[in-house]
Amino acid sequence: MLAHLLHLQGIESVVIEARSRQCIEERIRAGVLEQGTVDLLNETGLGERMQREGLLHHGIELRFGGRGHRIDFSELTGGRGITIYAQHELIKDLVAARLSAGGQIFFEARGVSVHNFGLGSAAQPTIRFRQDEEPRELRCDFIAGCDGSHGVCRPAIPAGACAAFERVYPIGWLGIMAEAPPSSEELIYCYHERGFALHSMRSPHLTRLYLQCAPDEDLAFWPDARIWEELQTRFTVGGGWRLNEGPILQKGVTGMHSLVVEPMQYGRLFLAGDAAHIVPPTGAKGLNLAIGDVRVLAGALAEFYHAGGRSSRLEQYSQTCLRRVWRVQRFSWWMTSMLHCFADDNPFDRRRQLAELDYVISSRAASQSLAESYTGLPLD
Ligand code: PHB
Repeated sequence: MLAHLLHLQGIESVVIEARSRQCIEERIRAGVLEQGTVDLLNETGLGERMQREGLLHHGIELRFGGRGHRIDFSELTGGRGITIYAQHELIKDLVAARLSAGGQIFFEARGVSVHNFGLGSAAQPTIRFRQDEEPRELRCDFIAGCDGSHGVCRPAIPAGACAAFERVYPIGWLGIMAEAPPSSEELIYCYHERGFALHSMRSPHLTRLYLQCAPDEDLAFWPDARIWEELQTRFTVGGGWRLNEGPILQKGVTGMHSLVVEPMQYGRLFLAGDAAHIVPPTGAKGLNLAIGDVRVLAGALAEFYHAGGRSSRLEQYSQTCLRRVWRVQRFSWWMTSMLHCFADDNPFDRRRQLAELDYVISSRAASQSLAESYTGLPLD
């Protein structure tokens, strides 16, 4: 996305990707796009397939105590909504857009390392990697570390130059993709005494479901029949409603983690997305936060190149992004703590969580607050 935004500003870039094109175009991640993300994709000419195949949602359901309650985003936010469009579909569109515009992407780059991006005028950012066993070296003005939480950029920053703020949650999500029509038109976030569950979707034929589990849950103990039984129990509501079942195409366990690195820049290296911050998946903010970062970075780099090397926006990159990052961290943490059961919860905590949910569904101010953050805080 950053490469695309830079291209629109006439700025050249090279994307170095450790994985194969097939791998990044198939990997299953969350699939919720905020209104601002959707608007940016449309404005920059990337929205055509998303408009056709994405599912526009105007609300979500919160389910607890055996009852469902709709939060009407449109009504609460003056017409904002979310679009369900799988992350790997968006990646296909981004890769296709870059390649058709003549952009350079090196796939399956091995042994990537970043050098000489430090403070001071002698800096000459350099990236070394191998492709097809050939060593390569790329010299550039700036390095954007968009290489995820296990990438090489964050660890390349000298120790002590950044601080990490972190929280690990003692819970995980067991996620499945099922060949079954979604059981509701919208997402359902479900609080249950046996643990959280989430109903999401990818298309009119594919349902994505999650249930809270241990962070190191062993899938060997979760044959398909047990998964369906547990999901049906957690989603129980009155009126004989049941989840549609179907063949399970994929299963996996995700841990839950919050992390922010400050500052998000060092010299001529700028961190963006998961390289700089991780959110737990409750609320599906990871991709949207990354898009927010690269929008700021593209604007700052455009200022640098078009305003004769002026770099005030580049200097403020971290500060600009972190304000939004922390507000989204707060939201993801809040959704996570409201909706999950924790081993050390006592009956007081359970009742407090139920009171919180009750407040969210019955106070306009509280449901508006959820709707505002869910559909996305302003990008600027
Ligand atoms: C998903 O569709 O994978 C999804 C949706 C909402 C979330 C997390 C994941 O909060």
